[in-house]
Amino acid sequence: MKAVVYNGARDVRVEDVPEPRIEEPTDAIVRITSSGICGSDLHMYDGHTPAEPGIILGHEPMGVVEEVGDGVSIIKEGDRVVMPFNVACGTCYNCLRGYSSACLVMNPQGAGAAYGYVTMGPYRGAQAEMLRVPRADWACLKLPGRPGDDKEDDYVMLADVFPTAFHATEMAKVSSGKTVAVFGAGPVGLLSAYCSMLKGASEVYVVDRSPSRLRLAERIGAVPVNFEEGDPAQQIVELRKQGDVAGSKLHPTEKWDGVECGIDAVGYQAYDREKPDDYRPDQVITDLVNVVNPAGNLGIIGAYMPNDPRARNEQEANGLLTIPFGLLWSKGLSIETGQAPVKNSQSLLRDLIVGGKARPSFIVSDRIDIDEAPDAYASFDKRDDVTKAIIRLE
Ligand SMILES: NC(=O)c1ccc[n+]([C@@H]2O[C@H](COP(=O)([O-])OP(=O)(O)OC[C@H]3O[C@@H](n4cnc5c(N)ncnc54)[C@H](O)[C@@H]3O)[C@@H](O)[C@H]2O)c1
Ligand SMILES: [Zn+2]
Ligand SMILES: [Zn+2]
Repeated sequence: MKAVVYNGARDVRVEDVPEPRIEEPTDAIVRITSSGICGSDLHMYDGHTPAEPGIILGHEPMGVVEEVGDGVSIIKEGDRVVMPFNVACGTCYNCLRGYSSACLVMNPQGAGAAYGYVTMGPYRGAQAEMLRVPRADWACLKLPGRPGDDKEDDYVMLADVFPTAFHATEMAKVSSGKTVAVFGAGPVGLLSAYCSMLKGASEVYVVDRSPSRLRLAERIGAVPVNFEEGDPAQQIVELRKQGDVAGSKLHPTEKWDGVECGIDAVGYQAYDREKPDDYRPDQVITDLVNVVNPAGNLGIIGAYMPNDPRARNEQEANGLLTIPFGLLWSKGLSIETGQAPVKNSQSLLRDLIVGGKARPSFIVSDRIDIDEAPDAYASFDKRDDVTKAIIRLE
């Protein structure tokens, strides 16, 4: 079968690899119909992880069940399904308390496993014609309709970015009436803004520098903020002052002119605002600490790695960042981080799509053949016009 294989920094190739087979009775084999390329894949693609050549990439799988092992009882051959990027057992202590992102069983190298990702266990990736899905009864979420129908792009968002963005809003404690700043207008940032809107946030600001991505943010009702036009924290405070709520001083204090909820949907490959061609891994957390109001909440969904072979200095190569912890503490901010446990919200978000209440596919810019994957990686890596590319098979 064909698969997208990592061959080193900025080098992915489509190769012929052996088809997967059932290895455990609880496995299923899924024939992939759609598979996303993710901003997380770009960390490997850009050479900012310890990934070695040979990894089959991809962790956003959707397709049709081809075969099930003897221990699979709920999922049947022919079912249309989407899987979370997390590979998890579903039964360990962490899985049972809602942290399948930190499953204690499935990754011999640590807590939490995923398809096709460095340090996340031995699982082959989903940018391929077929995928082995361990713990299939836990992993496979059934979908209505048929492959290639008008909701295919919405449903594939359930593998990662839609539930991940929802989780970001949970971490940042977004709820009705609250004000939100989202840094990053990639798939995760745009959908974090979208989920904030679904939850009834009163004002949502989205920070980036890509005009096309900021236009998408505006289209869904968020306020775009271009960080190339000045300090985004100050821009948001100024914009709020011009608005009806902060502008009319109902809360008569400037200490309330920031936002209550801050979401980092960028991660350690954040552009340095002073030197935009460089990365500055502490840039976004610093901006968030500045813009979030006292007693507010930060959700850090953007990825940070313990090792970055291409970091600016030795400290950052070991994941050590300098963040304004004094200001964070004195403001009394709460902070949550980590991989998203996709399963927690996956079926509810599916039901919103089925019921016509959510259309997360507004972020999809490119639908490509698997042979076009190397070009799509190169274009997506510019983080501009290609917002989300989906590999379509069949
Ligand atoms: N925690 C999880 O479970 C999880 C799941 C999926 C993705 N992620 C992570 O979320 C992050 C975003 O993913 P994506 O697919 O949207 O990626 P992406 O690379 O397409 O988007 C990142 C966006 O951030 C913008 N950006 C860069 N520096 C910035 C800055 N200083 N201020 C504001 N914006 C800035 C870029 O222009 C880009 O549009 C990545 O780090 C990815 O690894 C985490
Ligand atoms: Zn992803
Ligand atoms: Zn587990």
